[in-house]
Amino acid sequence: MIILKSKREIEYIREAGRITANALQLMRKLAKPGITTGELDQRCEEYIRSCGAFPSCKGYYGYPATICASVNEEVVHGIPGRRKLKDGDIISIDLVVNKNGYHGDSTVTIPVGHVDSAALQLLKVTEECLYKGIEQAVAGNHLGDIGHAVQSYAESFGYGVVRDYVGHGIGMDMHEDPEVPNYGMADHGELLEPGLVLAIEPMINMGTEKVHQLKNGWTVVTRDGKPAAHFEHTVAVTENGPEILTLPE
Ligand code: MF3
Ligand code: CO
Repeated sequence: MIILKSKREIEYIREAGRITANALQLMRKLAKPGITTGELDQRCEEYIRSCGAFPSCKGYYGYPATICASVNEEVVHGIPGRRKLKDGDIISIDLVVNKNGYHGDSTVTIPVGHVDSAALQLLKVTEECLYKGIEQAVAGNHLGDIGHAVQSYAESFGYGVVRDYVGHGIGMDMHEDPEVPNYGMADHGELLEPGLVLAIEPMINMGTEKVHQLKNGWTVVTRDGKPAAHFEHTVAVTENGPEILTLPE
């Protein structure tokens, strides 16, 4: 069931989203060679709680941390811990914040130190995929227009578009209907209406689109071990076009 949001609810989501975005800016500043993913997680949680907000993922189906920290070939749901970042790594930090009962969800992939040009291109194209998807989040369009825009751009670079994980509606629940695939056909799927709030989140692999989950029950990695990138914003469909709700102040 799709839950459309009122203007007031969209403002609540924007408030959560602002904290999400500010926290990700802090992560960008801290993600340097030598820091552990566990330290990033701790700093992130402290910041969020200092804003009177809560980490939505902590405890979600038993997830143990505030952020998902996915390094290199890890696609999503990497668990923070003792792993130290190294020069040349890329790290995807996915964060959902709950403020006043509403959630804001955003992800960035950050280059650590000096990263090779092939990985930098993957980051740039994945972020561009996100903005191509957001551009399609317009009333009167269909859900498939978002996925089609993301997929066609990513595949024009020979990249793999992850099929097994998708974006989602968001509001008082972190994951609401509809699913928002990063692939699809233009003019197909659910009609987009004002009040729809979506987490659009392309997960793009340098090589194969195929992924698998590690035995810890969370971490998803590429099957060929090549790097993956992930960018995400929470976006409202409004009468005046798409509005990104996960922007810093
Ligand atoms: N932002 C992630 C998503 O949209 C949420 C991960 S939280 C976790 O799937 F608890 F599931 F890890
Ligand atoms: Co999400």
